[in-house]
Amino acid sequence: MELRKNMRNSIFLILLASLVLSATRCKGGVTSTYRRRLGASVDMPLDSDVFRVPTGYNAPQQVHITQGDVNGNAVIVSWVTPDEPGSSVVLYGTSKHNLDKMETGKHTQYKYYNYTSGFIHHCTIRHLKFDTKYYYAVGIGQTVRKFWFKTPPEVGPDVPYTFGIIGDLGQTYDSNTTLSHYESNRKAETVLYVGDLSYADNYPDHDNNRWDSWARFVERSTAYQPWIWTAGNHELDFEPSLGEKEPFKPFKHRYLTPYRASDSTAPFWYSVKRASAHIIVLSSYSAYGKYTPQYRWLEEELPKVNRSETPWLIVLVHSPWYNSYNYHYMEGETMRVMFEPWFVQYKVDVVFAGHVHAYERSHRISDIAYNIVNKNCTPVPNEDAPVYITIGDGGNIEGLAANMTEPQPSYSAYREASFGHAIFEIKNRTHAHYTWHRNQDGEKVAGDEEWFTNRHWLPASN
Ligand SMILES: *[C@@H]1O[C@H](CO)[C@@H](O)[C@H](O)[C@H]1NC(C)=O
Ligand SMILES: *[C@@H]1O[C@H](CO)[C@@H](O)[C@H](O)[C@H]1NC(C)=O
Ligand SMILES: *[C@@H]1O[C@H](CO)[C@@H](O)[C@H](O)[C@H]1NC(C)=O
Ligand SMILES: *[C@@H]1O[C@H](CO)[C@@H](O)[C@H](O)[C@H]1NC(C)=O
Ligand SMILES: *[C@@H]1O[C@H](CO)[C@@H](O)[C@H](O)[C@H]1NC(C)=O
Ligand SMILES: [Fe+2]
Repeated sequence: MELRKNMRNSIFLILLASLVLSATRCKGGVTSTYRRRLGASVDMPLDSDVFRVPTGYNAPQQVHITQGDVNGNAVIVSWVTPDEPGSSVVLYGTSKHNLDKMETGKHTQYKYYNYTSGFIHHCTIRHLKFDTKYYYAVGIGQTVRKFWFKTPPEVGPDVPYTFGIIGDLGQTYDSNTTLSHYESNRKAETVLYVGDLSYADNYPDHDNNRWDSWARFVERSTAYQPWIWTAGNHELDFEPSLGEKEPFKPFKHRYLTPYRASDSTAPFWYSVKRASAHIIVLSSYSAYGKYTPQYRWLEEELPKVNRSETPWLIVLVHSPWYNSYNYHYMEGETMRVMFEPWFVQYKVDVVFAGHVHAYERSHRISDIAYNIVNKNCTPVPNEDAPVYITIGDGGNIEGLAANMTEPQPSYSAYREASFGHAIFEIKNRTHAHYTWHRNQDGEKVAGDEEWFTNRHWLPASN
C-alpha cells in the first residue's frame, strides 16, 4: 500500500518534471481557440468604390512605388494609363508646390490570351536624400495626379524602422479589411509583401482585368509607401492551354524589382537594405537547386550581409518551410533542404512566408525530420535558426486554411486561422517588437506578439 502510494507519488513527480521540462524547452505551442466566422471570402464587384477609375482623360491609375536600389536612395514609380501612352515623366521635389525635379521613364504593354494591358509606365528616380518627404506627380501633360512618399533614413545599425507584413491579399471584402487595418497603423512605413497579389488567375482565362482592379484597390497604400514584392504561385500565370507559356508574364510587366542592384540576374530574387534591415527576397517558383542562378546568387549574397551595419536579416519567400496546416503541407520542404544550413550559419532573424491562408509562428528550430507516413516530425531546437512566420492571411477569395495537423508540432509556437497582417518594429540593434494583428471581426481578442533580440549583438541572452 505504502509502496504503491510512493510509486504513485514518484510517477506524479516524474510527470510533473517532464511537463515543466518540455514547457521550458519549447515554451508550449498555442493553437488559438479563437475561430473566425468561416464565411466565404467574396471578391468585391468591379463597380466597388475601391476599384474606381480616376476621372480625367487618360488619368494615371494603379500607382505604386518600390525601392529602386540597394540603400534606399532610389524609388521605382509605376502606373498605368488606359487610353494612350501619354507621358512617362515623373515630376518630384521636396516642396508640395514646387516639383522642381524631373525623371523620364519608359512604358510597356503586354497581351495575355485575349487581354491587352494598358500602357504600363516605370520610372526610377535616383539620388534622393535619406529620411526626406518627396512629393511627386504623374500624368504630366494630361490628367495630373499627385502623391508623396518618404525615403528611409540612411542605413545604419541603430535606425528604428517599422515594417508591415502582408501576404496573399487578393481583392475580397476581407482583403479590404486587412488593408484598412494595416493602414490604421500610422507607424508602418514599408510593406514586406510575401506573394500572391491579385488572384486574377482564379477567373476564367486569368482575366487580367483583375490585375488592374487589384492595383487600383491597393493604390491608396502602394502610391505612398514602398511595397517590397515577392512572387507567389498566383504570379506564375503559366497557362499553355491559353497559349501562355511565359511564367510570371503579367507580374513581370507590372511590378519591377531592383534586382540588378543586388547583382541578381532575375527580378524574382534580390535584396535591399532599408534602415537597419537587410532584406533578402527569394522565389519559391524559380529554380533553386544546386548550381542554379538563384542558388549561386544566395550563396554570394549571404556573406555580404554586414550585421554591424544592418543587424536585422529578414528573408521573404512565398512557400513556408515550416507549416503545420493541412494545406500546402511540406511544399516548402525542398527549398528548406537546400538553404536551411545557410540560414542557420548566417543567423537569419526571421523568415516571412505566405501561401497558407492562416497565421503561424515557430520557435527557433532547424533540421526537421519528417515521418511522411504519419506526419510526425522531429525538429531540433536551435538558437542560431530563424523564427518562421506564415502570414498568408491577407483575405483572398480562396478563404481561410482552418485544417491543422494534430497534435500541434513542438516547433509551432502559435497558430490561428484568422485573417490579419503583422508589424515588425525595429527599435535598435538589439531589439525588435513583432506583433500579429488579427482582423477584428467585431470581437476584441488578442493576437500574437514576440520580442526579437538580435543574436549578433546579444549572443548570450538569447
Ligand atoms: C475573351 O474571351 C472570353 C471568352 O473566352 C470572352 O468572354 C471575353 O469577352 C473576351 N475578351 C475580349 C477582350 O475579347
Ligand atoms: C474598403 O475600405 C475602405 C476603407 O475602410 C472603405 O472606405 C470602402 O468603402 C471599402 N470598400 C468596400 C467595397 O468594402
Ligand atoms: C560593416 O559595416 C561597418 C559599419 O558600417 C563598417 O565599419 C565595416 O567596414 C563593414 N564591414 C565590411 C566588411 O564591409
Ligand atoms: C483535414 O485534412 C486531413 C488531411 O488532409 C483530412 O484527412 C481531413 O479530412 C481534413 N478535415 C477536414 C475537417 O476537412
Ligand atoms: C533597445 O531597445 C530596447 C527595447 O525598446 C530597450 O530596452 C533598450 O534599452 C534599447 N537599447 C539601447 C542601447 O538603447
Ligand atoms: Fe500561394
